[in-house]
Amino acid sequence: MAIKQLYEIKVWDLPTRLFHWINFTCVILLIVFGLLMLFKKDLGITSVEAKISLKTIHVLIGYVFVVNLLIRIIWGFISNMYARWSTLIPGYGHMAAVRQYITASRQGQPLSYAGHNPLGQIAVIVIFTCMIIMAITGLVRAGTDIYYPPFGSYAAEFVAKPGVDASNLVPYDKSEVNEEKFTQLKAFKKPFGTIHIYTSYFLMFMIVLHIAAVIRAEIKEGGTIISAMFTGKKYLHEKPHDNHDLR
Ligand code: HEM
Repeated sequence: MAIKQLYEIKVWDLPTRLFHWINFTCVILLIVFGLLMLFKKDLGITSVEAKISLKTIHVLIGYVFVVNLLIRIIWGFISNMYARWSTLIPGYGHMAAVRQYITASRQGQPLSYAGHNPLGQIAVIVIFTCMIIMAITGLVRAGTDIYYPPFGSYAAEFVAKPGVDASNLVPYDKSEVNEEKFTQLKAFKKPFGTIHIYTSYFLMFMIVLHIAAVIRAEIKEGGTIISAMFTGKKYLHEKPHDNHDLR
């Protein structure tokens, strides 16, 4: 049996890999606590304290998620070429690359890519967009629901009755809030909650799709794409379309 030459390519640098696994852990935990909040009644969770605790845990994990996401966004301007926004964001002629990739895959001769393949590139941008929406809407809900930073103090000051110290407001306790302003705050936060929940459903769908696509690519195309997110290195049978520094 002939032994094929393998190309070793250093693809994912350490910050990119760290981001990926911290993000993965946060998103899974956020989904778990999000679903617990969503189905709390079915699970017999009825007390206000338990409701606030679930939200608080979700928000604290959310902060790790947001900081990690912000670092990754900045890293996308200074990282190696594979993790850069200029490489990731689909540019002119991208649809032609997608068609070429799909046609080659259908013919059983998948094209090799060191970074993301053209379809994966679109998925990555869609997932990042969803996560940015989750971060913004989550932070607004954290402020307007349980008066947590960075917007919580503004929300609390807005609804607190005259003479009440806004920093002492307890979530869901209406005794110290101005009812009319509370109703206004409720109307303001509602669309953020709606966007948060529907984007979370879409993100869950994208995560399932992402995992299925990665497993499919690993089996059909080789290239060690799963282990590369641990080791940083891919091993390809042929020169990839998107690589410049082969060893
Ligand atoms: C990938 C990231 C995230 C996912 C998948 C996610 C998922 C969810 C889900 C499923 C719910 C339940 C919605 C409901 O009960 O109506 C929820 C609620 C909530 N999330 Fe997130 N979330 C994410 C990120 C964040 C972040 C970053 C924050 C803030 C730091 C946050 C803050 C909140 C708050 C305050 C609620 C309660 C809103 C309400 O009661 O309507 N979330 N989230």
